[in-house]
Amino acid sequence: MNYLTDTDAKKLFSAAIAAAENTYSPYSHFPVGAAVLSADGTIVPGTNVENASYGLTICAERTALGHAVSIGKTDIKAIAVFCKTNSAAPCGACRQFILEFGSDIVVIFMHGEELMQRTIGELLPFAFTKATMDQLEKVGDQEHNL
Ligand code: THU
Repeated sequence: MNYLTDTDAKKLFSAAIAAAENTYSPYSHFPVGAAVLSADGTIVPGTNVENASYGLTICAERTALGHAVSIGKTDIKAIAVFCKTNSAAPCGACRQFILEFGSDIVVIFMHGEELMQRTIGELLPFAFTKATMDQLEKVGDQEHNL
């Protein structure tokens, strides 16, 4: 398992706390911050960005990942997520979004008093991924029987 040291996990989590300061959440009033750690050590922040058309809201994790990709950081090691209620494991959509960049990515979040670390593969088992789609070539037109 590629879990971070306590010091590194806390450092990344602090960046997520700082990112939440920039929240744009005039509807939920629920600030969330995220911070991505890329393989070269760069820390990339993101916050939740809401919209008057509520469903268009972007979670902090997805903002941070989009930010990281936009500056050329797709080799991602970890992502921390913070919200004030101290129980902010990423939502289902964000789990899927994180997994796109690798099942070993470490997700760091508070659970009560504990700073938790779990790989995204642990948080989203049996996921639908690019590998799932790549099977199509192999499977071809074969019929499906149970
Ligand atoms: N939110 C996140 O930023 N990340 C999550 O994983 C769950 C929810 C945001 C979306 C919305 O702006 C607010 O939290 C309330 O749902």
